[in-house]
Amino acid sequence: MRKKIVAGNWKMNLSKMEAMHLYGEIELSVENMDAPDVVCFAPFVHIDALTQAQNDKSRLVLGAQNFYPAVNGAFTGEISVHHLKDLGIDTVLIGHSERREILNENDDFIKQKVDAAIQSGFNIFFCCGESLATRDAGQAKAFVAGQLRNSLLHLPINKMVDVVIAYEPIWAIGTGLTATKEEANEMHQHIRSVLTNTFNATVANETRILYGGSCNPSNAADLFGMSDIDGGLIGGASLQAQDFLKIIHAAK
Ligand code: PGA
Repeated sequence: MRKKIVAGNWKMNLSKMEAMHLYGEIELSVENMDAPDVVCFAPFVHIDALTQAQNDKSRLVLGAQNFYPAVNGAFTGEISVHHLKDLGIDTVLIGHSERREILNENDDFIKQKVDAAIQSGFNIFFCCGESLATRDAGQAKAFVAGQLRNSLLHLPINKMVDVVIAYEPIWAIGTGLTATKEEANEMHQHIRSVLTNTFNATVANETRILYGGSCNPSNAADLFGMSDIDGGLIGGASLQAQDFLKIIHAAK
């Protein structure tokens, strides 16, 4: 049985006060809940304050949305995995479509990030997903398999326990359009078949694959009820405690 995960991607939102308030409310609500794994990917500038305020026995995992794949050096404005480790962070998001599209991160660079994070002992949430044009052209499965092969599947098999995959069709992110539960599940099954071919059936069965893209309190239970959907990566609906908590309940 794969344990479900609900992860919030706060993106470039929330003031420090708002972030502290939201995090505290979620932390308290899941404290005694037989909840799925819950992660919040916060903006860098709030991580230190959130870590300081975090309850020692917190079930919430705090993650970073990004980092630069070098140990240190002349990379003005960038943050390394060592900076994150220093703050007690060991979970990072890699390959989000906004970074691929807006920040021009290509498969090679994303592969470097995968290696840097895994070598430093991080857990990674690896995002993949096709554009609408690619889906309409009937190329969605090949495209997603390509993203995985180009940046992730070179990892040694024993490192796959540190990987969560998030399938996020670009056309569903922040648009209110959601993949149907059947469309999403079909892609998740395809990703498992790629994992079987690359590694083996155990890795395919044990790797958790999340759906992301306009997941909200109304559609979460249906999506999470599908055989191969192990939870969600939530953007907009993770910014309101009540909505995010409803999604966490849907994953129970
Ligand atoms: P959304 O974002 O839930 O707002 O569509 C998901 C994501 O980008 O991770």
